[in-house]
Parts: sequence; C-alpha cells; structure tokens
Amino acid sequence: MKLNRLFLFCAMLCMGAMMQSCCCDNGISGENYQFKDGMIVFDEPARAVGQESMLQFAADPIPVVRVGFVGLGSRGPGAVNRFTHLEGVEIKGLCDIEQKNVDKCQKYLENAGMPKAEGYVGPEAYKQLCERDDIDLIYIATDWIHHVPIAVYAMEHGKHVAIEVPAATSVEECWQLVDTSERTRRHCMMLENCVYDFFELTCMNMAHQGLFGEILHAEGAYIHNLSPFWDQYHNNWRLDFNQKHRGDVYATHGFGPVCMALNIHRGNRLTHLVSMDTKSVLGLEKAKAKMGVTEFANGDHTSTLIATSSGQTIELQHNVYTPRPYNRLYQLTGTKGFANKYPVDGFTFVQGQLPEEILPEGYKIDPHGFVSDEVKQIVKNYYQHPIHKEIAEQAKKVGGHGGMDFVMDYRLVYCLHNGLPLDQDVYDAAEWSCIGELSATSAKHNSMPVAVPDFTRGDWNKIQGVKFHTK
Ligand SMILES: NC(=O)c1ccc[n+]([C@@H]2O[C@H](COP(=O)([O-])OP(=O)(O)OC[C@H]3O[C@@H](n4cnc5c(N)ncnc54)[C@H](O)[C@@H]3O)[C@@H](O)[C@H]2O)c1
Repeated sequence: MKLNRLFLFCAMLCMGAMMQSCCCDNGISGENYQFKDGMIVFDEPARAVGQESMLQFAADPIPVVRVGFVGLGSRGPGAVNRFTHLEGVEIKGLCDIEQKNVDKCQKYLENAGMPKAEGYVGPEAYKQLCERDDIDLIYIATDWIHHVPIAVYAMEHGKHVAIEVPAATSVEECWQLVDTSERTRRHCMMLENCVYDFFELTCMNMAHQGLFGEILHAEGAYIHNLSPFWDQYHNNWRLDFNQKHRGDVYATHGFGPVCMALNIHRGNRLTHLVSMDTKSVLGLEKAKAKMGVTEFANGDHTSTLIATSSGQTIELQHNVYTPRPYNRLYQLTGTKGFANKYPVDGFTFVQGQLPEEILPEGYKIDPHGFVSDEVKQIVKNYYQHPIHKEIAEQAKKVGGHGGMDFVMDYRLVYCLHNGLPLDQDVYDAAEWSCIGELSATSAKHNSMPVAVPDFTRGDWNKIQGVKFHTK
C-alpha cells in the first residue's frame, strides 16, 4: 500500500514536471504545443467557417497600383526608389516613426518627377495610412515585431500587403497572417528577394525541368557577420530580438529558394525538423557591451535539419556573429546533378543529363567535378528563367542586391496589374517564417523533433509544382 502511494506520488511529480515543460518552456510565443509520440506538435487551429484557402488566389486586376510604404530605415528607402522605376504605380503614402526618414524618401519621388506622397509620422501613424480608401498595397519594411500588427491592420482595411523578411516572428503570428489573408481575401506576400536571385531562379527552373534528377537534399543559410551593422538598427531592435530569442530567427533567405525548388505546398510538404545551436559567445559579448545584459538566447551558430513528405532533407544554418565570408549556401543535391552557389557557384551532372546540342564538341561530363566555366555559362544562359529573360537587364540597372530586389517588386506589381496569383503566397510566408520558433523549440528540448504545421490545412497536394503566372 505504502509502495503504491510512493509510486503514485512519483508519477504525479513526473507528470507535473512534464506539464511544466509543456506549458512554460517553449519557444517565442507561448503555450501552444504538445508532446505527441516523441514529437513536439504545435496547435493547428481549424479554419473558421466562411474562410477559404488562398491557394492560387487572384484579386481583380489593378491597372494602377497605389502603394503606401511603412518603415523607411535602411531597407525601406531602396524599395521606394525601386517603385519609382515601375510603370503603373502611384506612391501615395510614406510612413515612419522618424520625420527625417519620410523626408529622405520624398527626395526619390521628386527626382523621379512624381508627386509628393502624404507623410505619416509616429508609431501608430500607419493606421491612418491603412485607413485611406485610395491605396491598394501596403509595403512593410519595419523591424520584425511590427510586421504582423501592421499587416493585419492593413488587410483588415482592405489592402494587399507585402512584408519584409521574416514576415512573422512566431507560429501564432504565422497563423494570424494566414487567417487574416483567408478571411479578408487580400494578398499577403513576404518579400523574399533571394527567390529572384539570378543563380537561385535559374536553378529552380533547372530543378523543375528535372536537370538534377530527383532532388534528395538541399542546403540554405544566412551566414553574415553583422558586427559592422549592429549599431545601425532603429532602437537596437535586431540585437534586442536576438538577445531574447533562440533558434534560426532569419531563415528565409536560404530557405525560401530551396522550398521553391522543392515545390513545397505544391505537391510536397515540410514534415518535421530538428535543431541544435552553439553557445553564445560573440552575441553575448556584443549585448553585454551594448545593452548591459548577462544572457543572450541566440546561439552564435544554429543548425536545423528539416524533412519533407517526399523523403528529402534540408539543412539550414544561421550565424550572424562570427568572422567569415557571407554565405547563403544554396545547394541542391539530386540523383543526376548538383548545384552549389557559395563560395563558388557551379554545377555537376551525370553523362547524358545536359542536351548534347548545347555542349562544346567533344565535351566530356565529369560526375566527380564541376562543369567547366564555359559550360556553366552555357547552362546558365540556356536555363535562364523566363522572368529573368524579360526583366534582368532593367533589374541590373535599377539594382537592389544586384537586381533581384527589382525583379521581386516588378513581379509583385505585374501580378497585381494583371489579376494573377502572386509568386509567393501567404502559406510560403508562414512556412518560411515559422522556422524561428520551431527551431528554438527543438533546441530547447535537446533537439527533439518538431512537426512543421500545415498552414494550408490539408491543401498542400492540390497544386502540382510552383508556377509563376504570366498573362
Ligand atoms: N530582404 C532583404 O534583403 C533585407 C535586407 C535588409 C533588411 N531587411 C528587412 O527589412 C526590415 C527593416 O530592416 P532595416 O535594416 O531597414 O531596419 P531599420 O532599423 O534600419 O529600419 C526600420 C524602420 O522601421 C521604422 N519603424 C519601426 N516601427 C514602425 C512603426 N510602427 N511605424 C512606422 N515605422 C516604423 C523605424 O523608424 C525604422 O526607420 C526588416 O524586416 C529586415 O529583416 C530585408
């Protein structure tokens, strides 16, 4: 009897410890996951009655896209400038906390011979901008924690939204974007510019044409030593965020292009991930000096492995602290070919994989090494994506990370003009952004597997393959 009581007492203690771990020790946002069959599973709210999927959603054509910009620090002004180079656009509003940032952007309009935009200054001024009835698109380039509140407010007021990366900082925020977009029938696109980078988009085209055979493994990263930049963020928002948050908090540059190549939620889906990180040395050192803190949640180097329903693996890395060259990895490993972007770009193929007629006479394919520089260039030209054929030249002139930023803005406006589905939908925004909280949660639980939520709520297999629509 006594033994039974002791057993019961121990069992209750264990359950209590488990519940505490379930309820309190989670990632970024709160009490929203459970442990099921050796896996951490985040809650997946059911779709509300009357709400419909945004897959392949197309709004009515908008002949002139009237846009308001929110967040005009380092990144925002470049976007304003790029929009002055687009046809069929009117810049109606410019919003920031600081008057000087609004004034700086008015100069771009003046230089382009465009009318002055209405200025909105203050932390809540975006609300007035979103409440206007002569604006179609709100373009958001604020710090991360303001992305979702501003995007939700804008969609609630009938505006399409484009949000800088990452669109959301937690799983709960990802669901907010999905639900608001589905309920309001407004586009919600994350501005993942690396999807349009010249190497990545060419590789996506090649992957979809089967050049690499069956893709088994892919890699992506954000490895960028930010030590020269920490002091430039408004109110120290970025170091402050990393000080509080563990995990791969900036995954989308490496992850987005890989997901596009693998047709995620277009016949394939992310199933689960595991994540591991190093201790924080340099992040902590910087934060001690700058913020006077003694703890820093974000590891100096974070590695995450993600599985797909098609039996593939994706490796992601995040490191914004250590001295090393910039690197987004971007690597595709297939049964018949291989692509790699950093530190040197190149392709490997098996014999017979490339069309004979494009190869120099007598050229021998070597499946152990990269193709020659000459063949690499031939391959890049031959498999250039149709969107790059159309716009690459102008994009390189306008600029923005070598042109990819302009390709992104051009495609956003083109699809809105022509009433087409956008290249990146709200499910991409959610799937790519949720990696922050999911990886943090795995790392906190000794790299325990975490299920990736299905933000399409079962529709991930309805469309086969990524399609960039043209009229
Ligand atoms: N895609 C890319 O290549 C790329 C490159 C750099 C930055 N980014 C992203 O762009 C965003 C901005 O980064 P940044 O480097 O320009 O930061 P920043 O600190 O230089 O600028 C942020 C701006 O947002 C403004 N802001 C903050 N809250 C606001 C609010 N409530 N209303 C209006 N304005 C507000 C601030 O005043 C500041 O001017 C981030 O999401 C970042 O991740 C993307």
